[in-house]
Amino acid sequence: MKITSVKGFHDVLPDESARWQWIEQQARDLFARYAFAEIRLPIVERTELFSRSIGETTDIVEKEMYTFADRDGASLTLRPEGTASLVRAYVEHALHQHAAVSKLFYLGPMFRRERPQKGRLRQFAQIGVEAIGREDAAIDAEVLLLLHDLLAALRVRGAQIELNSLGCAACRPAYRAALLAYAEAHRAVLCENCGRRVERNPLRLLDCKDRACRESTADAPVTLEYLCVPCRTHFDTVRALLAREDVRPRLNPRMVRGLDYYCRTAFEVVAEGLGAQNAVGGGGRYDGLIKELGGPDSPGIGFALGVERLVLAVAEPDAARSSPPEVFVAPMGSAAEAEAMHLTHRWRGDGMRVEIASGGRSLKSQMRLADKVGSPYVLILGEDELAACALTVRDMVAKQDFPRAIGLSSSTAALREALAQLPRSTVEPRA
Ligand code: HAM
Repeated sequence: MKITSVKGFHDVLPDESARWQWIEQQARDLFARYAFAEIRLPIVERTELFSRSIGETTDIVEKEMYTFADRDGASLTLRPEGTASLVRAYVEHALHQHAAVSKLFYLGPMFRRERPQKGRLRQFAQIGVEAIGREDAAIDAEVLLLLHDLLAALRVRGAQIELNSLGCAACRPAYRAALLAYAEAHRAVLCENCGRRVERNPLRLLDCKDRACRESTADAPVTLEYLCVPCRTHFDTVRALLAREDVRPRLNPRMVRGLDYYCRTAFEVVAEGLGAQNAVGGGGRYDGLIKELGGPDSPGIGFALGVERLVLAVAEPDAARSSPPEVFVAPMGSAAEAEAMHLTHRWRGDGMRVEIASGGRSLKSQMRLADKVGSPYVLILGEDELAACALTVRDMVAKQDFPRAIGLSSSTAALREALAQLPRSTVEPRA
């Protein structure tokens, strides 16, 4: 019987992985320009790391984690996100002693046992950044500008950053009390889920997915109405700094994020083409988290984008296609095959993209293969060519042969030069 992949766990096939590479490369280029350095983190962590950071009453910790007992009884979890792991590493390696501010990025798979649908998987990849060590509004603006520039570089269709402020330890209690009083007065119209968890996690009332519940709580109090003066100033400064760069996120006072560690600045990115799962990314400030995980009282802010959702939302760029081989080597017979292998190895060593066929196949079938992989030239090496110590070139675009046109001992540079010099017929070259 055929063994298939597990529900919610997908293969990324070669055609699609060219797009993934392009997305990752755009991100890496931009992170370098913004002076963020890469950190590579393990996939498995102690379960406690996530329950303490993401929050016991969140959907992720309550029902979506892949948790298992190690052979020694320790409870381990496949990471559902990257921020907690990054902060764990930051504290464990005392990164605050190396630099006043750590600006780090990560790429890799995350795991959440959600109900799979378009854009929602159980293994998905995130590209994330975190800036730890600064609490001023300028770093929020820098992180949001980076996000804005990345969405532009990726040409994400209909990308829109939604912004909110969730307040801080000083202003939250008054807000929480107001929200709880509201929930109490509206208990009869809340959905079952909200009724159950409103005391433990009242903020989640605002982003309930149940339409009726959402509509009947449309006038619920929001954090923006309860911000203390420092939080209000911080929020206004972030927006003013962004506006100077002509970046104007849309205010969304009901956006509260699904993880508990956030305070002050919180944001999400929505995009077109994603269906119900329209968030390509999210992030925000988490000033208490580093201390909560045993580190210094350092503030932090960051975001993560979901790669599978980006793949659905980026406008198809030419650059995201995989590059075809520059030449396709077609040997005829076993003697030619060994020589062709030798040439191919040399050219590849010099950085050329080269594909080679088996010497046992007919020339016709080799040509069909060359056509399939999209190589513009086939270098034919048969008995005549071996005797003449020169390759025959077939120009696949012009459908023209140049018998024994390139010497076997040509350097890679000479080969490239000779191909460029071949007379082109009137046929337009392939895109
Ligand atoms: P998050 O909003 O939970 O935030 O996830 C960020 C992004 O990961 C989502 O917007 C989505 O694109 C993608 N994602 C999440 N779950 C799935 C899934 N089941 N299938 C496909 N894609 C998914 C965080 O994870 C925070 N750690 C972000 C952050 C970084 N906050 C501060 N720093």
